[in-house]
Amino acid sequence: MTLIKQPTFHQLFTTDQHAVRAELLAGLTAPAAHTSPKYLYDALGSRLFEAITELPEYYPTRTEAAIFARHAADMAAQLPVGVTLIDLGAGNCQKAAGLFAAFAPSRYVAVDISVDFLRNALLLLQRQHPHMALVGLGLDFSAGLTLPDVAVPADSPRVLFYPGSSIGNFTPTDALVFLRSVHTACGHVPGSGLLIGVDLVKDVAELEAAYDDALGVTGAFNLNLLLHINRTLGTNFNVREWAHVALFNTVDSRIEMHLQARHSLTVRWPGGERAFMGGERIHTENSYKWTLPAFESLLLKAGFQETQAWTDPGQRFAVCWARAL
Ligand code: AVJ
Repeated sequence: MTLIKQPTFHQLFTTDQHAVRAELLAGLTAPAAHTSPKYLYDALGSRLFEAITELPEYYPTRTEAAIFARHAADMAAQLPVGVTLIDLGAGNCQKAAGLFAAFAPSRYVAVDISVDFLRNALLLLQRQHPHMALVGLGLDFSAGLTLPDVAVPADSPRVLFYPGSSIGNFTPTDALVFLRSVHTACGHVPGSGLLIGVDLVKDVAELEAAYDDALGVTGAFNLNLLLHINRTLGTNFNVREWAHVALFNTVDSRIEMHLQARHSLTVRWPGGERAFMGGERIHTENSYKWTLPAFESLLLKAGFQETQAWTDPGQRFAVCWARAL
């Protein structure tokens, strides 16, 4: 008899539609209108983001991939044997799967907001890795990470994997709080830690081009937020009345994305309205850029014991291994 392993799935998060609407409305009606970047990722937004990663101007994805391709064996040498690889924001699981050969994890735990995003990817992966324990976890870790015991054995060393510079969406203060929760989630087995990708400070023109590409894909990604809000709140945003703005704020070391009203207008929804002056903006995303020394001291401040970093020859992006204990 052959035993064929099957992935297991746990959905531990349910969207509270009432809370989503309340949060969006609070941001839209604030004096300085703003929305959380998570609302950029509806079905179309997720596909537009995938398209962004293929743009010539958007260097982070391919630069990080090149760092992994070149240094995966070197990274693996730092890791304990038989790790549980825990992928934060796994999506199609391809980035982590590319490291299976080098890291040889005994278990792979894919975490995303909905297990439904993970089902097909994990079923496919199981065929290629019939002996690996595969787990899909539906979890919202944006406000802090807590791993359930069902998915992660306490006696196995853990590698938490947070690539893509998603950490850039957090303010430095929130990043510290989040990384502290990640440090705790590394558990108690010596050698466990965090492998994290971070985008680095660089020439402003190069940064701004990456978020305002010639094809206008990032503009479409940003403007699509308005369609998502129209469906969620019943607002009557007209995409044609808004322009995509991306700028590097050197004081806060972050790319900011905004949607800017092309002229004075009023947005209406059942139960309310908001007037915007021409030129007024909705702040839709921050993407913080770090220097490597500042980021490594953030990791140490969050409780990690030791850090090691790999970068590309142009020092555009870094992958850090932070040992937790
Ligand atoms: C997914 C947050 C890493 O900040 O570069 C890309 C999102 N926004 N282009 C980034 C994004 C506009 C991306 N992260």
